[in-house]
Amino acid sequence: MVASTTAEINLQCLAGRLRLSEYLWKDDKGRFAIAFKVGQQRLMNNQKIVIMGFMGSGKSTVAHDLARKLNYRAIDLDDLITMRESRRPRQIIEQDGEAAFRKIETRILREALREASARVVAVGGGAWTIAENRRIIAEHEAFTVWLDAPFELCWTRIEAGRETRPLARFRETAQTLYTARRGIYALADVRIPVSENESAETIAMKVAGAVDQLNAKS
Ligand code: S3P
Repeated sequence: MVASTTAEINLQCLAGRLRLSEYLWKDDKGRFAIAFKVGQQRLMNNQKIVIMGFMGSGKSTVAHDLARKLNYRAIDLDDLITMRESRRPRQIIEQDGEAAFRKIETRILREALREASARVVAVGGGAWTIAENRRIIAEHEAFTVWLDAPFELCWTRIEAGRETRPLARFRETAQTLYTARRGIYALADVRIPVSENESAETIAMKVAGAVDQLNAKS
């Protein structure tokens, strides 16, 4: 069970409007953790939208739907990794270990964010949990969206999926990871709750709505 409180303070400063958010949550061992986020609220015309969330939250499908809606190209980071490395993330993790996979993921994330024609980037469930990746995403001033799906929904999809997720082979492992990551996902600019009966298109519309709202504010 994750208890979380979020306090948001709006600040004005010379650089524009900044949002300082403080997140307090309980991790899987029941300890309180705290994180701060300072995020720019302005969404520029060519700004990238990074879609993140736990395995099985529907990132890839939503990213493609959203890109179609915005008339831009979407990149799925795991697919780009597969193209560049000629191996799926699963194979890289199984053969070389998670640390080796994370290095590749960071390198290819840089490439994806530099790609001018792609506006929407869906990243694998662990990418945002790596501080270096969050720094790179911030450097590109990308707008970050957390697809927050309930664990049961993620697990059903993980179990049914064609691709085994080596970091979530068992329900218990997946649940622990899910709980531990929530506080970090909460650092995203926007949280979009996802429920079982919503189509990817509906969720993409919600993301587009959040993007519009941000544009209207700036
Ligand atoms: C991972 C999620 C996977 C993939 C890799 C590691 C993770 O992507 O990047 O297996 O650490 O959560 P999806 O979230 O698209 O399944």
